[in-house]
Amino acid sequence: MVFVIILLACCVVVVLLIMKTKNRHYWKKRGIVQVNSNAWHFMLGKCSLSEIYKHIYDSHPTQDCVGTFVGYKPVLILKNLEDIQVVLQSDFQSFYGRGYKTNPKDTLANNLLLIDDYARWRLLRQKISPVFTATKLKNMFSILERCASDFAEFIKLNPHAKENVFEALHTYTSASISASVFGINAESSNTMTNPILDFGWSSTESVNVFNIKFAMTNIFPKLFNFLNLKTFGEHNDFVVGILKKVLNNRRCSKEKRYDFIDTCLDLLNQEIMHDPLTGFELKVTDEVLAAQAFSFFMAGVDTSANVINFALLELSNNPVILNRLHNEIDTIFENCSEKITYKDIQKMEYLEMVINESMRKYPPIGLMQRMCMKDTVLPSRNIKIEKNTFVVIPIYGIQRDEKYFPKPEEFDPERFSTENVSKIVKLSYIPFGEGNRICIGTRFAHLQIKTALAWLLRRYTIKGYNYTSKCFEPNFFGLRDSKARYDLIARA
Ligand code: HEM
Repeated sequence: MVFVIILLACCVVVVLLIMKTKNRHYWKKRGIVQVNSNAWHFMLGKCSLSEIYKHIYDSHPTQDCVGTFVGYKPVLILKNLEDIQVVLQSDFQSFYGRGYKTNPKDTLANNLLLIDDYARWRLLRQKISPVFTATKLKNMFSILERCASDFAEFIKLNPHAKENVFEALHTYTSASISASVFGINAESSNTMTNPILDFGWSSTESVNVFNIKFAMTNIFPKLFNFLNLKTFGEHNDFVVGILKKVLNNRRCSKEKRYDFIDTCLDLLNQEIMHDPLTGFELKVTDEVLAAQAFSFFMAGVDTSANVINFALLELSNNPVILNRLHNEIDTIFENCSEKITYKDIQKMEYLEMVINESMRKYPPIGLMQRMCMKDTVLPSRNIKIEKNTFVVIPIYGIQRDEKYFPKPEEFDPERFSTENVSKIVKLSYIPFGEGNRICIGTRFAHLQIKTALAWLLRRYTIKGYNYTSKCFEPNFFGLRDSKARYDLIARA
């Protein structure tokens, strides 16, 4: 066995070297500035990939794009917003995939909304989008609000939570998705105790394991399938089991909540999903539906926890902003006798500005990746992009570019005031992406984050330790700083 593993590892290294040599001048030959070795700091665990791409972005101020590699595969980092518009929106047919390869035997991974299979993705996206309409969110709000107030109480009752706020934030974002989207424990007296939390959405394991597997499917998709590896294989039974239980409970109670579970029951009644445009059909099974539930957790737990974490870190550094925010939140809570409604949350305009600025300075997804699905041309310099080439949209680099955001290192919520927001250059602010594959949970995430911050800052203020983000955690897509310290201090 050891011999086989060593042999396999040697083969991989040889293939990597051959391919790397073959592609050595890939970008230079096409007249594009090329940066060769860039990922060492990431691979050695010293920073995130988004920071590496930002460094390349900043180091080439006059270029529209820069060529580099992931393993031996050519990657083009886009800087020109016109090209980015084409990739995300107008030439979607050439760039609908992310290059996320899945094992066909891995039902969970193979039915996630993150997949590359166009017809399957289109059908699933159409069927799942109605879960997050404005009306549905209004319906969910009372549960979301209770989750946020339970969270503030949870911090009070758990001294450990105050020492590790990030871990507690993860618990909150998981619990609030479970309760509001799936109705799990929605009626319980404490939404912060929840069977889904046993799943182990620990703030480190889930993200890091996914990173490694994602990197592998990117660089060695064939080997991944040959070894019959499954991106989320070990979670399959747990996720499907929980979904089955929740579906059964809902069937028995005959209750209507108009949430994801009701959508699932409607789809199961239809038996087959059908897309009239592509003709693609998919049998509705518990596994297919469980994959959707899983993608909400995968895409929505860590991202939202990071936004709240960075907002609190910045507020701890900026007492004037913090005070103004406390005043806004206090006034609204006092006017509604401490029971905030969906309308009250909409009134918290300064809080919205703080959250937007936080996602500008620290986009939780710091880069988006696309794989070119057919040969095409990008407009800025008529660059020919070959099928199977990766392109990267360096969100973190763009959102910290002084061309779009003067004094980009400054935390300034005024950039998002009513007067200023219209001056933001289109596509220079894209924390949720843009185009057909824009984040499906955008509105939900805003509401979830806003409600949590409103309740936290009503009950607590923050003392920080002059936060400066020198380096983030080694992460493929995300910007995270789960170890950064600040204290939550109960308010009188
Ligand atoms: C602040 C929180 C969040 C941020 C910043 C965020 C950001 C993003 C980004 C940048 C993408 C990729 C877009 C692309 O590649 O074009 C994405 C996709 C996605 N997000 Fe979010 N997200 C957040 C929260 C959520 C939540 C709460 C959910 C679900 C409840 C969610 C579900 C998804 C799904 C399913 C996709 C894949 C969509 C598709 O490919 O069609 N996200 N998100």
